[in-house]
Amino acid sequence: MALTAVILAAGEGRRMQSDRPKALADLAGRPLIEHVLARARALDPRCIRVVVGHGAESVRAALPDDVETVVQPTQRGTGDATRCALHELPPDDVVLVLCGDVPLVEPDTLRALVAAAGEADCALITVEVDRPHGYGRIVRDAAGEVARIVEERDASADEQAIREINTGILAMPAATLSAHVETLDNDNAQREYYLTDVVGRVRADGGRVAAVQPTHGWEVAGVNDRHQLAALERAWQRHLAGQLMDAGVTLRDPARIDIRGTLTVERDVVIDVDCVFEGEVHIESAAEIGPGCTISDSRIGPGTRLASHCVLEGVRTGSGCAIGPFARLRPGTTLDAAAAVGNFVEIKNATVGEGSKINHLSYVGDATIGTDANIGAGVITCNYDGHSKHRTEIGDRAFIGSDSQLIAPVRVGNDATIGAGSTIIQDAPAGELTVSRSRQRTVPGWKRPGERDGEAG
Ligand code: UD1
Ligand code: CA
Repeated sequence: MALTAVILAAGEGRRMQSDRPKALADLAGRPLIEHVLARARALDPRCIRVVVGHGAESVRAALPDDVETVVQPTQRGTGDATRCALHELPPDDVVLVLCGDVPLVEPDTLRALVAAAGEADCALITVEVDRPHGYGRIVRDAAGEVARIVEERDASADEQAIREINTGILAMPAATLSAHVETLDNDNAQREYYLTDVVGRVRADGGRVAAVQPTHGWEVAGVNDRHQLAALERAWQRHLAGQLMDAGVTLRDPARIDIRGTLTVERDVVIDVDCVFEGEVHIESAAEIGPGCTISDSRIGPGTRLASHCVLEGVRTGSGCAIGPFARLRPGTTLDAAAAVGNFVEIKNATVGEGSKINHLSYVGDATIGTDANIGAGVITCNYDGHSKHRTEIGDRAFIGSDSQLIAPVRVGNDATIGAGSTIIQDAPAGELTVSRSRQRTVPGWKRPGERDGEAG
């Protein structure tokens, strides 16, 4: 049995009060539509069709090429949107209809739904909630079978009291779905063609409607306004935090972590409060991340410790490094084992060798630093001449005195020492002291203005 996934994403999402279509609203660092797509893909459908309409161009631009889009010219309801996507489907395909604003349904729940659709004429995901406000209600018959769905605005007081709601996600054979969506009417409070009316029609034809439930409530929460978006973000982050703890991570506060991408971890990692992880981040065993760090697309080696408020992007560290507080490591930074980078240090496109230290107030860009080197406070690699970038190479066990500038391209040899305050414009030989500093002199008897002879005090 082949599967086609249809994602409804043509709506404006008026309640978001946004200039962007709702499908592009951001949840955990990705647009809603991307979450829905990822979950649809997990079921390996034969094809995925996204119904676009409001802001069609920008939604389409956010979609990968292998996803088909179909345009719903005017937003006349979910039934009309579904109808737009059903052309030329093999009749015995099962169609899985997903909503672009219900982003987090788990693939296992979808698998259960599709399996149920194979044994009934229509299958829905429903859930009981304490506050059903805003959702369609599931009306069951005397035998307890799903009879129909009534939208809130069309529901009687008794129906409004029903706590089992429609999640908007259903699966059924293409032929039956097509037949019913072609004949929907808009005889309801919103003057819309409701996909949900298909359920009553299946029953009227003597068909059976199955209902499956999700494992977690947040899986089927819809995003209609920014309150729901924020609540779902928190629920999702709490879920991810739980997975990290299951994997052996200590979270100082599981309510204060944000993962906007994929964070993978090894055992005994410790993550303090208010850290943000973006893109693909991997943290090896027993590494510690201090409070307030932002880490993007990086790999942190075992036992490495980040003190508070470090910002890392595109970084690889070896084992046992010490970083921060307040370090900024930019793309292309590699720290070998036991390297130390201290406060107010910026590093970009540079390799810092094993055991080397850059502890205070430096800029190191486009550089290669050997092992056990010591870069003093305030050292700057002057890598940019206003036109091109040049490299600085610093040898093993080199010592760069504080407040020195290395004008690239330039090399400092192994075991070389650079005197503090030097401006190095030529290669500094291995094993020697190189210093470029004007001589210090004392002017005997000099007086400050106002202290000079004959002047009034
Ligand atoms: C819908 C369901 C409701 C369910 C809820 C779950 C209907 C009639 N109602 O209500 O039973 O409880 O979802 O979240 O189906 N869309 C289009 N074209 C349109 C209208 C909507 O593509 O003409 C898309 C929207 O972009 C959205 C999805 O369909 O992604 C759902 O539409 P929305 O207006 O949010 O429906 P709800 O009122 O939430
Ligand atoms: Ca909705």
